[in-house]
Order: sequence, then structure tokens, then C-alpha cells
Amino acid sequence: MKHFVNLDDLSTQDLNSIIDTAIALKKQHKAGEINQTLKNKTLAMIFDKSSTRTRVSFETGMTQLGGHALFLSDRDIQLGRGEPIKDTAIVISSMVDAIMMRVSSHEDINTFVKNSSVPIINALSDESHPCQLLADMMTYKEHKGSIQGKTVAWIGDGNNMCHTYIQAAKAFKFKLNIATPKGYEPDQVFIDNYADHISLFNDAKKACDNADLVVTDVWASMGQESEQKKRELAFKEFQVDQNLMKNADADASFMHCLPAHRGEEVSAEVIDGKQSLVWDEAENRLHAQKSLLLYLLG
Ligand code: CP
Ligand code: NVA
Repeated sequence: MKHFVNLDDLSTQDLNSIIDTAIALKKQHKAGEINQTLKNKTLAMIFDKSSTRTRVSFETGMTQLGGHALFLSDRDIQLGRGEPIKDTAIVISSMVDAIMMRVSSHEDINTFVKNSSVPIINALSDESHPCQLLADMMTYKEHKGSIQGKTVAWIGDGNNMCHTYIQAAKAFKFKLNIATPKGYEPDQVFIDNYADHISLFNDAKKACDNADLVVTDVWASMGQESEQKKRELAFKEFQVDQNLMKNADADASFMHCLPAHRGEEVSAEVIDGKQSLVWDEAENRLHAQKSLLLYLLG
């Protein structure tokens, strides 16, 4: 049994094959072909944080594959009233075929993995967001071809998305320049474990030098709302705007996992401009995760 808790749970070969299948599934879906491979399968989706893309893509993906998805908010299930995580994992996994979790504490996902009898998918934790990277890598491939040997600039917070980009740099063999304000670097464990694949900067312009892809994310992630003002000050030199994009390759693309704050981490001209791939990136969550579900449950 396989889980998808972090990108490095899967080999590069398997990740690439999931992405190639996702591209094929997308074509199949657009052509109106029906694929009911997951008929009678159920995915439990546990959320203790908000979501638009993740919920809609997993739920729709299960329907399109002939299965069913259960939306379980922590406000409604006994987990939110203090039922132990271990007990919840044993019980839910005894009834469903896979469990997707979006939780505040990555440790809760690890507890589920230890106690679940079915595959666990990390749909965002404080540590990482591997599902998003499947969609991002798929989107790059569709628009630009292989990302191997390319330069990616991560601008902004050394957060969960940044951590998964660090793992992606190794898996997909690209160079990752990370520009953060001082004090907002990625976790030291990620820096140490992936040192050969990343370069750290405190200057966004330098990180964008010759970049083929520029990526950013919100300055205050879910759960950091009280730090919003402090972060706006700390990150003010880290907005991805047209000026910054001029330092990247003339043909560079822009990505953002969304939701975005125009005028904060990205200017409206960039996110709504020609170099932006954000709408395909969001849509590809659906196709990439259908492929992931087939890989884990097939
Ligand atoms: N990018 C992403 O995970 O979006 P949601 O928070 O809307 O699921
Ligand atoms: N870093 C953001 C990503 C949202 C998809 C957060 O954790 O809120």
C-alpha cells in the first residue's frame, strides 16, 4: 500500500508517469470519454482548513471516475470534538478506499498513516502540499515541455508550498532559487536535505535571474492571519510584478497555487497577464489528482 504524504514518497519515474497519465486523462475527459475505473470506491476527505480547488477537484475527480467522495469537516465529525486521531483513522479507513486530509498539523497525517488500512493523501499541511506540485509540474510540461535543467524562482515565504518545490527540484531535476525575507526561509531540515538542488537569496531580483518559471504564494498562510500586517511589511520587496519578471527569461512563465492576493504577493498585471499559467494550473488539480487516485487505488 502506498501513501502520498510528501512528494518524495514516490519515485521520479512514478511521479512522471502520474503526470503523463494526467495529461491523457484530461484529453479523455475533454473528448467526452467515460472512465469508471473507481466505480464503487469511496474517498474520505477530511478538512480542518478552508479549500476551494482541493475539495472541488477531489470530489469531482471521484465522481468522474465512477466513485464517491465524502466531505468531512472537522466541525461535523467527532474528531473536532476530541475523538483521538488514531481511533478516527482506524474507523474511517475500515469503511473507505482512500483518505485525503487537509490539516493544520502534519503530525496528524503521520498518525493517520500509522493507523490507516488504506492510502492517505496529504491535501495540504503546515509542512507541505504535494498534490499542488503534481498539477504545477503537469502544467509546465503541457505548456513548455520538460522542466529538467530549467531554473525555477520561488519568491516569498519559505512555507509549505516552498517545501514541496524543494522536493520537486530534486525529483524533477531543476534548479530552484528561493528568495525570502530574512527570518522567513524554509525549514532547516529541507534546506539541509536538499542543499544540492537549491540556492537561497534575500533578493528577489537575483533569484529571478534567467528563471524559466517564477512562482509565489500568499504571504500569510492559513492559520497565520494574525501575522498579516507584520508579514505585509516584511515581504514588501517580494511582490512578483512586471519589473521583477523582467529579470527572468523573456519567455518565463508565472505560477501561483491560488488563492492569490493581487497587490500583495503578485501584481494584477502578472497574474492576469500573458506569462501566467494559473488557470490551467488550478484546473490541472482535477486531472493530476484523478491520476494520483488511479495510481494509489488502481
Ligand atoms: N491551491 C489550493 O490548494 O487551493 P485551495 O486552498 O482552494 O484548495
Ligand atoms: N501556503 C498556503 C497555500 C494555500 C493553498 C496556505 O497554507 O494557506
